[in-house]
Amino acid sequence: MKETNILQHTTQLALYMCEKYINEKETAVDCTCGNGKDTLWLAKRAGKVYAFDIQKDAIENTRGLLESEGVETGPEGKAVLINDSHDKIDSYVSEPPCVILFNLGFLPGGDKSITTKVDTSLLAIKKSLDLLKVGGLLSITLYPGHDEGNEEKKMILSWAQSLESKTYHCVFANMLNQSERAPQILWITKKR
Ligand SMILES: C[S@@+](CC[C@H](N)C(=O)[O-])C[C@H]1O[C@@H](n2cnc3c(N)ncnc32)[C@H](O)[C@@H]1O
Repeated sequence: MKETNILQHTTQLALYMCEKYINEKETAVDCTCGNGKDTLWLAKRAGKVYAFDIQKDAIENTRGLLESEGVETGPEGKAVLINDSHDKIDSYVSEPPCVILFNLGFLPGGDKSITTKVDTSLLAIKKSLDLLKVGGLLSITLYPGHDEGNEEKKMILSWAQSLESKTYHCVFANMLNQSERAPQILWITKKR
């Protein structure tokens, strides 16, 4: 696995796990598409991809990246780009996705005030888990390095710890020899 810095390494780890669950016959969802790198990765491996972002620029950057790589966007295309909040996921996605990805926080190099928020993230994650297919993966990258992200992390981990153990497995990855501000990953699988 090629790695250059903590952010890139974390993304690679999250996608490495997604690789085991994604398949070309099913749907995947990117709940925070940003500049579209993860959306493109999903689009190359899934049958259909839905991608959410509240920033219009993020949606347009994602559209540009996908189309430059030959991935058709639009309601009938392989990738459906949705300029809306991820907590509305159940209004747009009806088929059970095999993979749902959250990369929380703000867009690196973008406006740091536009960050994911505890209440909408938690609602979106709960709805995503309901939608997820049995045998699917929910992957959430957490960024405790800023105040909102730290609060988000605490609430999400506390909720995950309370999930029913016969139905869900929650795996938490934390880089033990790095700063407490380093990104972390929560993976949730649904068993029944
Ligand atoms: C860390 S970035 C995602 C980076 C992206 N995965 C990439 O490969 O470029 C987080 C993104 O979440 C978006 N976001 C914040 N709140 C959101 C919400 N409620 N619903 C959907 N997207 C949201 C931000 O606009 C930002 O683009």
